[in-house]
Amino acid sequence: MCRGRVSLTVLPRTHCCARMNPNREARPLSQQQRDWPELESQLYLKTFRRIPLTIVRGEGTRVWDEQGRAYLDFVAGWAVNALGHCHPVLVEAIERQARTLIHTSNQFYTVPQLELAELLVKHSCLDRVFFCNSGVEAAEGAVKLARRYGKLHLDGAYEVITVSDSFHGRTLAMTAATAQQKYQQLYTPLPPGFVNVEWNDPKAIRDATGENTCAVMLEPVQGEAGVRIPDAGYLPAVRRWCDEKGILLILDEVQTGIGRTGTLFRYEEAGVEPDILVLAKGLASGVPIGAFLAKERASAFQPGDHGSTFGGNPLACAAAFAVVSYIIEHDIPGHVRRVGVRFLRLLNDIVRDLPIAREARGCGLLLALVLNKDVAEDVTLQCLHHGLLINRVRPNTVRFMPPLITTDGDVDEAVAILRTVLASV
Ligand SMILES: Cc1ncc(COP(=O)(O)O)c(C=O)c1O
Repeated sequence: MCRGRVSLTVLPRTHCCARMNPNREARPLSQQQRDWPELESQLYLKTFRRIPLTIVRGEGTRVWDEQGRAYLDFVAGWAVNALGHCHPVLVEAIERQARTLIHTSNQFYTVPQLELAELLVKHSCLDRVFFCNSGVEAAEGAVKLARRYGKLHLDGAYEVITVSDSFHGRTLAMTAATAQQKYQQLYTPLPPGFVNVEWNDPKAIRDATGENTCAVMLEPVQGEAGVRIPDAGYLPAVRRWCDEKGILLILDEVQTGIGRTGTLFRYEEAGVEPDILVLAKGLASGVPIGAFLAKERASAFQPGDHGSTFGGNPLACAAAFAVVSYIIEHDIPGHVRRVGVRFLRLLNDIVRDLPIAREARGCGLLLALVLNKDVAEDVTLQCLHHGLLINRVRPNTVRFMPPLITTDGDVDEAVAILRTVLASV
């Protein structure tokens, strides 16, 4: 049978199985209940320390496992599911765009890409944008842009200063930028061109600046370090220093951007404007996309200097456009501020009441609870047992980064579980 010019002739069995391992059983086509952790242990590279839970469905602030058990999701795919799971606005945008145009190359203009660019530029202090597929790709793109700037305007300066306990992602270059021994030592030699200095210390940045420095790259709040907020004067001091030296300030807002901390971008709260801004995670609430934006004066790329096959494709951009529009139109950052302040107060009550809890910190819906013992793993597993997903971000620290649409009721439920668990460890 032929449909148009496409032949649907079934290939002989020997042909279609030619590359299959004869010792391996044929895989079932339907998704039936199987031992997924066992399958993962056989097939997947051993990179993730997984939590013993197979998630099969999500809606709003909840996910479900194969047995139909519900969990309140305060991890949100590592601060990604901004609108929660399967928000109708996002689902509808993906469906509509999937029926219209999924992908084409960046040789051509596409409407969703340019509409998203316009939206982000209009609502930020930046002038131009480049889209890619992940946070690390956006951070590395930002560094490439700073190096181009250095070549053009700073006598070839190429070095980027980053700070201790930062996290900028997992490529080799961003591992060099990420100033944490535990990530770096596995992959030496690392690409040169990064200088790691002490966090929250403007003098350390001043001392490390030399004739090769083209930029400083910082997270305005350090998420992976356990949600650390620098002193109020830190970012303004670094901004002033960058201006004095004519070098660029890159803010990595992969985790803090798009409403997570109670303003659309964290830099608004910090009172500084970056020359380059890095985004990903919440941008499309789960559809993979990253972006870096630049001030006009820092927009040093010329045609051919950088690129991406998938970056900025119509499907991802239509999803991000729907998400960012919703977040702006419904003042989700305002909601995050209100719910976040209350959540932080309830965490502080835990610190007051339970000796195991040492400190509650963070902003908006990026919060952490520091414990007096290295029991964060155990607490995370016990919360799972009680139907709450949280993140062990450090041996003694748990992190909360629920969907931005989380309600006071969700927070009450999570805090009640947390209290029960912490009272028993
Ligand atoms: C601040 C920051 N930058 C970069 C990244 C890397 O993002 P991705 O995992 O999407 O590559 C992360 C991820 O957690 C992050 O928190």
